[in-house]
Amino acid sequence: QAYNERESLYIVLGYARDFFVKNLQTEEGKAIGLSYFKERGFSQSIIEKFDLGYALDGWSHLHDAAKSDGHSNELLLKAGLILQKEGDPSRLYDRFRGRVTFTIHNLGGKPIGFGARILTQDKKQPKYINSPETDVYHKSDILYGIFQAKKSIREKDNCYLVEGYTDVISMHLAGIENVVASSGTSLTENQIKLIKRFSDNITVLYDGDAAGIKASLRGIDMILEGGLNVKAVVFPRGEDPDSYARKVGSQEFGEYLEKNAQDFISFKIGLYAEEVAKDPIKQANLIKEVVSSLAKIPDPIVRTVYIKKSASLLGLDEEIIQAELNKIHLKEK
Ligand code: CTP
Ligand code: MN
Ligand code: MN
Ligand code: MN
Ligand code: MN
Repeated sequence: QAYNERESLYIVLGYARDFFVKNLQTEEGKAIGLSYFKERGFSQSIIEKFDLGYALDGWSHLHDAAKSDGHSNELLLKAGLILQKEGDPSRLYDRFRGRVTFTIHNLGGKPIGFGARILTQDKKQPKYINSPETDVYHKSDILYGIFQAKKSIREKDNCYLVEGYTDVISMHLAGIENVVASSGTSLTENQIKLIKRFSDNITVLYDGDAAGIKASLRGIDMILEGGLNVKAVVFPRGEDPDSYARKVGSQEFGEYLEKNAQDFISFKIGLYAEEVAKDPIKQANLIKEVVSSLAKIPDPIVRTVYIKKSASLLGLDEEIIQAELNKIHLKEK
């Protein structure tokens, strides 16, 4: 039977998913992988829902199995499942070894890649190893969890955006299913378009650390530029949605999101509040920050609504905001 190249990739990636999932039931998988997931509070049904698995420790477990089941080296390489040894390309080895695996699905639920988490605190190794770009996996076009979230995003008419794989899973466990992850990279135009197929509303839930705040600010401007509505929730320092949901429980977590979702203007004002209180001159910076986001809103009516809101929250005349905005628009021309 002849398959085209993309179909072949889906087949071998499906094979790898099944292999990793089955590995969780081996002695090694149970002792290391399954117990790791259980410690994080992941239930059997969530493990199945997200195709979580385990890559056995060793250089060629997947390669050996796939080879004996008829998958070519060429295809395994193209799928990003095996690698060639540097300086000795005829030597092949498994990309994912001794790690728990997170299957990355496309919108239709087909596996297109994997993220794999280390189980030790070994600082010399990266916490996650991910699939490379392939003919079916374009990081910048997909969001982790979109397949499991799409129905709920449409129903709730809102999409929560988190940083990590485990944030998505913990939120499902907390009963919140309209959630996707940008997987630690900055949000792209195509990812925003993907969400826009299901809802025009995004709530950004990035980690409560400096990197998370910075990523939120970038993400917010991207979302505004895409013509969507954006809110953000700030978590206590050091917490991410996963850790916070486990800390306070599902009920309180849901309430926290409801109570703390701020529009982007309040979010920015909150970030700068401390600075401005210490040094009123800093307020000029804050105004410029808010205006730079307002300038990204394509719809003039929506922009006007937010100009009014900014003016009122900042205690300024709308004309002052408008004048600042005009400066930016002039610069662009
Ligand atoms: N990430 C990655 N490679 C790394 C670190 C992070 O690809 N070396 C991506 C992963 O998708 C990860 C996300 O960035 O889920 C967020 O990173 P981080 O907050 O460090 O990890 P968590 O998702 O919180 O993972 P955990 O709770 O297991 O520590
Ligand atoms: Mn493509
Ligand atoms: Mn982080
Ligand atoms: Mn995190
Ligand atoms: Mn985390």
